[in-house]
Amino acid sequence: MDKLIINGPNTLSGTVSISSAKNACLPILAATILFPQDITFNKLPNLSDISFFVQILESLGAGTEGDLDKKTIYSARIDKTTADYDLVRKMRASILVLGPLLSRFKEAKVSLPGGCAIGSRPVDIHLSGLEKMGAEITIEKGYVHAKTNGLKGADISLAFPSVGATENLMMAAVWAEGITTLDNAAREPEIVDLANFLIQFGTKVEGAGSKQIKIHGRALKDYKNVESNEYQIIGDRIEAATYVIAGLMTNSDIRVQDFSPQHISAVLDTLTEMGAKLEIDENGVRTLPSGKLKGTNIDTAPFPGFPTDAQAQLMALMGVSECSSKVSEHIFENRFMHVPELVRMGMDIKLDGGSAIISGVDSLECAPVMCTDLRASAALILSGLVAEGETHISRIYHLDRGYEKLFEKFLALGAKIQRVKA
Ligand code: EPZ
Repeated sequence: MDKLIINGPNTLSGTVSISSAKNACLPILAATILFPQDITFNKLPNLSDISFFVQILESLGAGTEGDLDKKTIYSARIDKTTADYDLVRKMRASILVLGPLLSRFKEAKVSLPGGCAIGSRPVDIHLSGLEKMGAEITIEKGYVHAKTNGLKGADISLAFPSVGATENLMMAAVWAEGITTLDNAAREPEIVDLANFLIQFGTKVEGAGSKQIKIHGRALKDYKNVESNEYQIIGDRIEAATYVIAGLMTNSDIRVQDFSPQHISAVLDTLTEMGAKLEIDENGVRTLPSGKLKGTNIDTAPFPGFPTDAQAQLMALMGVSECSSKVSEHIFENRFMHVPELVRMGMDIKLDGGSAIISGVDSLECAPVMCTDLRASAALILSGLVAEGETHISRIYHLDRGYEKLFEKFLALGAKIQRVKA
């Protein structure tokens, strides 16, 4: 297993281009199951999660062609409706094939996704919504078995604005008879990107990005191939937030581009409140040397609130800011795995139930640390950039799931970073 060695402290400079969004790619790759034609994606990010998902589509019978820069999925060839455990266990987002398989093939067998480091990650909201649309669902031997005589549009009110459940139900609604209305729907930019994909392939979707989404179901037998079959996924807002915070933590002048800053307004507002000097335009953000920032308090929340996926990274910044800060995590029950590792690097963080109290310190110590989950890993990188001396970061396969070319991108920004065989 590789590890990263960062020799700190660092000052960064230059421009970093943000890759396509992992959390938009995954549901949109699942949505290719719905449309029996070839669909081409430009610039899919080179991430292990994306490669796994393409493998899942292939295991269902889809043909694929090309590399990640230009990948074509031939979903007319899909002829299986079982997503097997071996692949699903590697990535819980595989549950997103359930809705499209059920909608197009009237049946699906998908391994129940396990929990993960940050929480139990149940799928009850996904399943109850599908049942309201006429699916018969049983769970046997760790698999979700779903079948239907044909899904029907339904009025579904989500108990929580779950991103994955919203996505699964939007996809299930495409070949359902009648209109499906999702109330208390997730509003994340990735939901809007999925809706735009469904719209490009002929589905009428209204209200994506708001709390109520309406999907007008159609009859699969009437489907006609869509000529303009190329799609470009939005920039990864969480990757972008990570690099903006890196620029501020290292008191650097860098430009982070090829994403929509409005997708991380809550993050940028928080950073500005902390005293960050940012230049924001419609395609990126420039960080200016802002010195030591002031602490603040944040609560993670569904979009447009502060994103849970940027919580660990902000905590790292708070750890070297003035005064004290408080981070309250409301989305996942165990998303403070980064805290013990940050404390090993000299940060002063105390946990109090679902909150962390951070007292800013003047400097960090290099220490051997270990990645535990994707976003926690990013927090360790950020801290290693600032710590005096060599920080050794192990188990970086977590990073490879969600940060394309992270090592190369930080190297290009001037970081003293090496990737070595552990
Ligand atoms: C998506 O996960 C993202 N993953 C997560 O990003 C992100 O943290 C999360 O949304 C919240 O924004 C992808 O898009 C692939 P949820 P998802 O369903 O869909 C509970 C990353 O780092 N819940 O909105 O699984 C659930 O337990 C990852 O890129 C139910 O109780 O998130 C959690 O507490 C991590 N029942 C909360 O809702 C359900 O049926 C939010 O989950 C579904 C969810």
